[in-house]
Amino acid sequence: MNPSEFRRHGNAIVDWVADYRARIADLPVMPRVAPGEIRAKLPGAPPEQPEPFDAMLRDFDEIIVPGITHWQSPKFFGFFPGGGSLAGVLGDYLSTGIAALGLSWQACPALTELEEVVADWMRQMVGLSDGWSGVIQDTASTSTLVALICARERATRYALARGGLQGAERPLVVYVSAHAHSSVNKAALLAGFGRDNVRVVPHDESYAMRADALRDVMAADVAAGLAPCAVVATTGTTGTTALDPVGAIAPVARAHGCWLHVDAAMAGSAMIVPELRWMWDGIEGADSLVVNPHKWLGVVFDCSLYYVRDVEHLVRVMSTNPSYLQSAADGRVRNYRDWGIPLGRRFRALKLWFLIREQGVSGLRARIRRDMANAVWLEQQVRAEPGWRVLAPVPLQTVCVRHDPPGLAGDALDRHTLDWVDRVNRSGEGYLTPSTLDGRWMARVSIGAEATEREHVAALWDVMRAAAAG
Ligand SMILES: Cc1ncc(COP(=O)(O)O)c(C=O)c1O
Repeated sequence: MNPSEFRRHGNAIVDWVADYRARIADLPVMPRVAPGEIRAKLPGAPPEQPEPFDAMLRDFDEIIVPGITHWQSPKFFGFFPGGGSLAGVLGDYLSTGIAALGLSWQACPALTELEEVVADWMRQMVGLSDGWSGVIQDTASTSTLVALICARERATRYALARGGLQGAERPLVVYVSAHAHSSVNKAALLAGFGRDNVRVVPHDESYAMRADALRDVMAADVAAGLAPCAVVATTGTTGTTALDPVGAIAPVARAHGCWLHVDAAMAGSAMIVPELRWMWDGIEGADSLVVNPHKWLGVVFDCSLYYVRDVEHLVRVMSTNPSYLQSAADGRVRNYRDWGIPLGRRFRALKLWFLIREQGVSGLRARIRRDMANAVWLEQQVRAEPGWRVLAPVPLQTVCVRHDPPGLAGDALDRHTLDWVDRVNRSGEGYLTPSTLDGRWMARVSIGAEATEREHVAALWDVMRAAAAG
């Protein structure tokens, strides 16, 4: 494809996206396709001869689009919101069009320096002190893996340069709550701690980790000859948006020389609103944290900000310096390859930069406040409705509900929950992701798609009641 063909097809694609976003509210939010249906329409082998671009666009419309779940629909209330602000989409498009790789500062100086600037803008926006330095990773999963590797290396005084974990005198232990995201467990396993050494700390009735229980569990481990190494606290858990008390956890972690990592993948975006910062009170006592602007803030996936206090330690753990990557500028510049796992780096900062500039911090704050007000409104409706229950506190934008009519309990209640949620999803008028809480199914209503206004939440509530009525 030459640049003039690109101009023609590219314009058509920009038009396609603009039309798509304009009509997205009218599309059934969950696609009506059966497993394997899309694959069956596609050739099993690649084309031997070049094909016209128009044919690809036609197949895209006819085969691919019917299989898309519309995350940017105002009727999307599943998982957590996935950012999709159009200014960020254009930033991502430029990044792809430029197609530069940030292997080092010299490999694309603007890529590194814009990332430094926007990471620092975000630091200021969420109210962190200037003792923190940030880098953009692909996902919170990667950020948490990096955090636990750094914790491991601090505890073992850089065992990676010797026998690794296999040379450790005492098993190292990681502490999490049962409501930590699955990526936290995965990171602990991948970082080599082993399932036996991942301790699940009891939580309170708001599903937040109990600092007193953490203290007890750690003391028992020390008495048993184990070495506490890292604590992962979550600000905004995936199930119910519970808030682990960072301020109470930090001194317990510190007393054992433990690394404290805070997973604020979801709630971190809300910290741009000053009156919400109590939610991570004590954050300055952490060693690392992750915030995903690709969730609630509105940046299109992927854009996960990882902040650390001790950059020197991070670089010592992550650095490799083969000769072909060295340059005369080293020592005077940041080489972000030494701040994480991958060598190659996309120009992700562009989409965050565009979003922040296009909406301004005030615009971003207004959207977070709007979504929280919508969640409070829905919580009030559910509480006022006979037969319905709100199952957990609603500090952010997710409302955990159950339709709990008299006479239904146990497995029958579970079947009822899954049935009515399925009816909502199949109606195309809403999209919810059920999940379990205390061993029973519930529906999470996760508000925060950019297009979702109060009227859409009200319409969903009607659809939910109708679906639960059968
Ligand atoms: C609290 C929390 N942490 C981590 C993650 C994982 O995020 P990512 O997809 O960026 O790895 C999620 C995903 O929803 C989450 O809710």
